[in-house]
Amino acid sequence: MAKAMDDIRQTSPLLNARPAARVSVPRVDAQIKALAPQQPLYVFDAARLAQSYRRFAASFGGEIAYAVKCNPHPAVLEVLAAEGIAAFDVASLAEIRAARAAAPQAKLFFMHPVKAPEDIAAAYHDYGVRAFVLDHVDELYKILRATELAQDLELFVRLGLPKNGKAALDFSSKFGALPEEAAALLQACRPVCRKLGLAFHVGTQNTDTGAYARAVAVAAGVIATADVSVDILDLGGGFPARYLERTPSLPAIFHEIRSALLLHNLQHMQLMAEPGRALVADCMSLIVRVEQRRGDLLYINDGVYGGLFDAGPSLRWRYPVRRIARDGGQTESGVTTAFRFAGPTCDSIDMMEGPFILPDEIKAGDWIEIKQAGAYSQCLRTDFNGFGAAGFLVLNMPGARPVKPIKQRKQNK
Ligand SMILES: Cc1ncc(COP(=O)(O)O)c(C=O)c1O
Repeated sequence: MAKAMDDIRQTSPLLNARPAARVSVPRVDAQIKALAPQQPLYVFDAARLAQSYRRFAASFGGEIAYAVKCNPHPAVLEVLAAEGIAAFDVASLAEIRAARAAAPQAKLFFMHPVKAPEDIAAAYHDYGVRAFVLDHVDELYKILRATELAQDLELFVRLGLPKNGKAALDFSSKFGALPEEAAALLQACRPVCRKLGLAFHVGTQNTDTGAYARAVAVAAGVIATADVSVDILDLGGGFPARYLERTPSLPAIFHEIRSALLLHNLQHMQLMAEPGRALVADCMSLIVRVEQRRGDLLYINDGVYGGLFDAGPSLRWRYPVRRIARDGGQTESGVTTAFRFAGPTCDSIDMMEGPFILPDEIKAGDWIEIKQAGAYSQCLRTDFNGFGAAGFLVLNMPGARPVKPIKQRKQNK
């Protein structure tokens, strides 16, 4: 284990760096115009990430395990580590390595309900992971076998929840035990683990403040049926980020959760959460370029197969957007148009209906800042049609430099 830890422990210019004073919008625009990116460019604001983490931590009060899947970029993990985050929710060995590289001492929760036995063994024996989730008895046996009946396991039973209309994506249709199965799993786990937890996920971007209270009520019923001591209640992720729709504040959501815990007499339980989107959505923008305009349709250089999956036909996400005019100093009339976007690939599903409200003057060669692109964007990029590359620019981090050089696509002669 020590060797594996040494292998992945790296020194990084980003680690331990403290976010500096904020860079103003005009300065960012000037930087973008100077770079004139021909490919999509992520602008990562380290100070914003630090602020989101601090806000979450200040009002939550329980253990925060950042959901690495949401944005596993090393710079993101390193800023969170520098802010003192103590835990990460990981779903694969690659995520385990990434989290360990940024935060060698952090506690890792292996929260994929269906894991490869080899990955469980490596997680336990090579990377010191002790916390595992399961939603089926076969997974319990698999964990016990792969860890050679370890005595120091922390086991979490993942509870499925009734469909919640307000989440952008329902997570209980794929994973999660029904309440009666979850109670039986808690009973089966109790004698073979050091700590026992019950976990759920209310669905990502859940803007319904009552969703967590209803989930706590279901969890309370499961714990009462199981009639065994349960140490930890894991509220999962799902905490909303601010896009364009009205979003309840995190303190309002946490207040609802605390009231529900009191109501069901669960206030004594250790609390944890696995936020992804709520921590990182705000810290990255995606700068795309308009390649052609046809009326209200803008052909841009990124799309559904790149960093804008959520804006595509499956979720129809409406990101906040802003024009960055190529020609400096150009005035805008104040007239706006509701635009649609077309991505760069040949696939006709690579379309984003929006509407995206932008100045009517926008034209080919201008850039668009797509805000709130820190969650489930960079990690979902594919190379389809050869459009996968994107640059990365770090702001508000002393000593930082672009993590990836910005490769310009060759100009067509
Ligand atoms: C088990 C688990 N925890 C946490 C998260 C993070 O969710 P969110 O980004 O909605 O906070 C996810 C998202 O897929 C998940 O599957």
